[in-house]
Amino acid sequence: ADRARAAIARHTRLVPDFPSPGIAFKDLTPVLADAEGLSAVTTALAQAGGDIDLVAGIDARGFLLGGAIALQLGVGVLAIRKAGKLPPPVRSADYDLEYGTASLEVPADGVDLHGRRVLVVDDVLATGGTLNAAIGLLEAAGAVVPTAVVVMEIDGLPGRDAVESAHRDLVLTSLAAG
Ligand code: PRP
Repeated sequence: ADRARAAIARHTRLVPDFPSPGIAFKDLTPVLADAEGLSAVTTALAQAGGDIDLVAGIDARGFLLGGAIALQLGVGVLAIRKAGKLPPPVRSADYDLEYGTASLEVPADGVDLHGRRVLVVDDVLATGGTLNAAIGLLEAAGAVVPTAVVVMEIDGLPGRDAVESAHRDLVLTSLAAG
């Protein structure tokens, strides 16, 4: 985790006034584009994943992390997608974003989630709306979500509280806060 924190501190790009005035957007793109950054971050997230048998990555940057983490843990990977991308049938959940609203979807056929222990992965935790919707979708499909991991949680937003109060047994790990 020290390797990961060093890479995050070194490579995260701050974008002022995005997506709205006064907000400093944390762009992790350069962290994941760096060989040491990708290795350190995915290794630390995999270690925090615990005893699971499937990794689910959230659209879109969670996909980059999810595949790498799943390979390290020797399990499969599932994409939790924005609305309209998956072939039917799908399960979907609406959620509020920091800016706007959206829906997430998982397949309702083809991948049996019942009883599976699923690690949910995303890059950033802000309000927690996205992560809560993803966890809710998986649970509605019969999965158990013991752990969720993100690279960064945003200071001053209620993301961690929102996720932990909605899912009291879930262990949420972030590698950095900012
Ligand atoms: C960002 C980020 C998380 C989400 C966190 O994705 O990658 O998925 O917002 O915000 P929340 O905790 O307030 O829900 P975004 O919705 O911008 O989509 P993208 O990954 O497709 O750019």
